Amino acid sequence: MFNPKIQDAFNKQLNAELDSAYLYLSMSAYFDSENLSGMGDWMRFQAQEELGHAMKFFSFINERDGRVLLAQLGTPKSEWASPLNAFEEALAHEEKITGLINGLVDLALAEKDHASNTFLQWFVTEQIEEESSVKSIVDKLQLIGDSPVALYMLDGQLGQRTPPSPTDTSG
Ligand SMILES: [Fe+2]
Ligand SMILES: [Fe+2]
Repeated sequence: MFNPKIQDAFNKQLNAELDSAYLYLSMSAYFDSENLSGMGDWMRFQAQEELGHAMKFFSFINERDGRVLLAQLGTPKSEWASPLNAFEEALAHEEKITGLINGLVDLALAEKDHASNTFLQWFVTEQIEEESSVKSIVDKLQLIGDSPVALYMLDGQLGQRTPPSPTDTSG
């Protein structure tokens, strides 16, 4: 039987990953409405990645003979003061998620659940990547300042991101 404390915490994390997807999808719509379609695409792919993260928890809970329980998602914010403001918020959000993942590792270790600990290590590594990619965009937007030309160049560059495979639920 799957440890009920870990099952409960993993169900909460599944919700947090879906919540991340919802936030990034809302940011994608914001960027599209600002005619920044490259950033809109980037955030849409980011949302797809978060769905992949949620599905990893979904599959793992099931594999451990646990029970997935879905909970309500909050209404995401829909407006940001600037592209920089949106990406800063995305970075703060990823930092929060990293904290949640670290908390889950602490719990798995405390409960001596080695399988869950091993499963979570993928997320520990993934969060380094997630924070780093968003941070590099924040840095660029800070350099850009009020230059529309530079902003459109960055938008074009971010529009080059390749989509995660639709069937890839491995994240
Ligand atoms: Fe995630
Ligand atoms: Fe993420």
